[in-house]
Amino acid sequence: MHIFSTPAEMRAWSDARRATGRRIGFVPTMGALHTGHLALIADAADRTDDVVVSIFVNPLQFNEVGDFNGYPRPIDDDVAACEQAGVAAVFAPTAAAMYPTGFQTRVVPGPLGAVMEGPKRPGHFEGVLTVVVKLFGAVRPHVAVFGQKDYQQLRIITQMAADLEFGIDVVGHPIVRDPDGLAQSSRNVRLTDAERAAAVAVPRSLDAAIAAAGAGDAVADVIGAATSVIDAEDAALLEYVTVFDAITLIEFDDLADVPPMPGIARIATAVWFGDVRLIDNRDLFELSDA
Ligand code: PAJ
Repeated sequence: MHIFSTPAEMRAWSDARRATGRRIGFVPTMGALHTGHLALIADAADRTDDVVVSIFVNPLQFNEVGDFNGYPRPIDDDVAACEQAGVAAVFAPTAAAMYPTGFQTRVVPGPLGAVMEGPKRPGHFEGVLTVVVKLFGAVRPHVAVFGQKDYQQLRIITQMAADLEFGIDVVGHPIVRDPDGLAQSSRNVRLTDAERAAAVAVPRSLDAAIAAAGAGDAVADVIGAATSVIDAEDAALLEYVTVFDAITLIEFDDLADVPPMPGIARIATAVWFGDVRLIDNRDLFELSDA
């Protein structure tokens, strides 16, 4: 397995692989790899010949210094996990290699960035898009796999790749969960044991909302069902829960005209446990657990 630390080295390898006709699959990450990331790697491997994983904790997308500094960075474990997963190359650049003196360009999302996580995390999606464009430029993949865990991020990147003619197939992969339903996240390791136990309220809140939606309840009652599960958990502080159009991300204030079919409506939430912020989302009218 190759390990590259500069965009130029990464691109030289990718260009050479592409020249031999191989298709490159790409899984961008910030490291602290868990089975959710590994599922994305396996998905990319199914679709392409060589998988590249990037590991880069992108300073541009963090709106809290504490979150950036506290972000786990087990680089040796991550490299070993990539090797084990059959990854062809790891791209692990330094911040100086990605953002040298003089770097100034930013990529800005459209209306998809103005809802949900957007207003809560100023500059976040701009930071994500800017780094993803740079990573795409270095890795030059044919296919890039992102998780539905960060559903808004997936939509914004899909839109960007289409709007800007990247010619990259952006694929969304279902959320990988722990046995109790908590979505896997690099931030889960920062939960205390008590907070980790309490965090099951997040998927449970979405279960309750989905049951309410399935029973034909109004939006306020669907959101109320989720809210009451979070409110019942002392260690949890709800930031938001919202029901929205799966494509436009525009909030629904009424479900009366929304067909109860998969792929139409989603529910998302952000919940604090101490200083750890967890997000989750589900299809509101899903057929399976994705
Ligand atoms: P990171 O949080 O490391 O996530 C990397 C990829 O793994 C993202 O596409 C994310 O949605 C996916 N992922 C994380 N947890 C998952 C889970 N439980 N199930 C399925 N997929 C999961 O997202 C980022 O990094 C960054 O914003 C990045 C795109 C790398 C840009 O810096």
